[in-house]
Amino acid sequence: MNNIFTNAMARNTIYGSVLVILLFFVLTFGTVRTLPERVHHENITPQVVLGKAVWEQNHCVGCHTLLGEGSYYAPELGNVYQRIKHQTNETHAGPFIKAWIEIMPTDAPMRRQMPNFNLSKTELNALLAFLKWFSEINAANWPPNIEG
Ligand code: HEC
Repeated sequence: MNNIFTNAMARNTIYGSVLVILLFFVLTFGTVRTLPERVHHENITPQVVLGKAVWEQNHCVGCHTLLGEGSYYAPELGNVYQRIKHQTNETHAGPFIKAWIEIMPTDAPMRRQMPNFNLSKTELNALLAFLKWFSEINAANWPPNIEG
């Protein structure tokens, strides 16, 4: 077992590590540089801001994720607007999502339940604006499938 870690191996390990660290910085720099145009800040209307507040006050993130961040009890919602739009169409996606939130819980047996939050029309519209805005973030195709 003596001398099994040769000088060449030590050198290669260091070169390899340096390469990986460099790659990490290059990829991070690439991502950070493109973020401003991917997040479309200019579309953050007061309604979107209110929607985010409603999202936080009702702790939606306690069950859902946005772009993978949050809890894994219920579906990803970062792309929910696009998902419902695919299943229905542009006109029906908004009303569908609001109606969904309003009719909860379904009490369907063997199905996870979402509580009713008794939201006002203003809060529902704001939440929808927030979810729609979120779905328009260029997340480099994340999540990788439409089911989230
Ligand atoms: C206690 C957990 C819980 C909380 C908190 C919660 N939800 Fe849900 N939500 C669920 C579950 C479970 C489902 C899926 C139910 C089903 O498919 O029958 C769901 C589904 C949804 C859907 C439909 C998703 C789809 O893919 O069709 C939307 C939209 C939604 N929730 C929005 C919200 C919003 C907005 C909030 C905060 C106001 C919220 N949820 C808070 C549990 C929760």
